[in-house]
Amino acid sequence: MNCQVLCLNQTGGSQVSESTNVAQGSDSLQAHDPVVEQALAAASDHLANVPAARRESTVDFPEPTALSSHGPARVIAVCNQKGGVGKTTTTINLGAALAEYGRKVLLVDFDPQGALGVGLGINPLRLNHTVLSVLLGEASVQEAVISTSVANLDLLPSNIDLSGAEIALTNEISREHTFARSIAPIVPDYDFVLVDCQPTLGLLTVNALTAADSVLIPLQCEYFALRGIGLLTDIVGKVRARLNPRLEIEGIVATMYDNRTLHSREVLERIQEAFGERVLATSIGRAIKFSETTAAGQPITNYASSSAGAASYRRLAREILSRHA
Ligand SMILES: Nc1ncnc2c1ncn2[C@@H]1O[C@H](COP(=O)(O)OP(=O)(O)OP(=O)(O)O)[C@@H](O)[C@H]1O
Ligand SMILES: [Mg+2]
Repeated sequence: MNCQVLCLNQTGGSQVSESTNVAQGSDSLQAHDPVVEQALAAASDHLANVPAARRESTVDFPEPTALSSHGPARVIAVCNQKGGVGKTTTTINLGAALAEYGRKVLLVDFDPQGALGVGLGINPLRLNHTVLSVLLGEASVQEAVISTSVANLDLLPSNIDLSGAEIALTNEISREHTFARSIAPIVPDYDFVLVDCQPTLGLLTVNALTAADSVLIPLQCEYFALRGIGLLTDIVGKVRARLNPRLEIEGIVATMYDNRTLHSREVLERIQEAFGERVLATSIGRAIKFSETTAAGQPITNYASSSAGAASYRRLAREILSRHA
């Protein structure tokens, strides 16, 4: 799709509501937003210097083989400064799906909102240690990690105290590397470490990117949700250039995709056009079950194991595993 297609149908409103426009052609991408288009162009430029993780050409991702030993982990930062795009949902459910495939997984809650722990049924007010205690050297990472109700899935939790971290780290020597130093002792014990970043591009997120092998970017399938992508990829490029040369793009994962709406289909097409191979073959459909899982404190792979949402995250796990076999 090109700009001319985006400019069609200028007469109606620009947002598509979830409950309407199903299987209709009348409410497509109605506004050509120069900010979105500039952001997409800038983003694909920034990513030109950030390599993509190796890709399999197949779209039929095989069942992963069992592991006879574990580690060292691939550290993946799940990152997008736009709020509510599915970072935490992706971290929990991708992590749980990888764990189902026998991988040892550590999830890191790098957001003071503490939603990752809540989504796993952990009470943020009853933590002895948090990721902040580890960053400040008050506890070892081994002391702070807790197990979850899911086999093979551990959590380095956080709570609202983490909101003071950026100030607390201000005078730290090599402060962007604090998190990398903190988790180094346990990276050899896991197959994957997934870091759920907060919706800002501040020092904590830079720490996550500095510690990471790759960044996974959830992108919500709404046209105006693409506005911030240029800034995000700019930071990714800068971290790679100045702090962490091994940082790769794990992929862009389209979230809240609704194939019944033309809008969703067109946004996905536009994302694929802008980012090509960096867009993962697996997209995550919009489903009400995801909100229920947070209330239940379980990953969707446990709460609704045979749902389409669980199948999507298992496929995403297989897609990622197929590259790092
Ligand atoms: N595929 C989906 N379908 C429907 N709802 C979803 C989906 N993914 C996430 N949600 C819901 O959208 C909301 C935001 O998701 P989530 O908390 O994962 O986003 P986030 O990017 O981590 O947000 P924040 O930026 O605040 O940390 C939650 O209520 C979640 O249950
Ligand atoms: Mg979140």
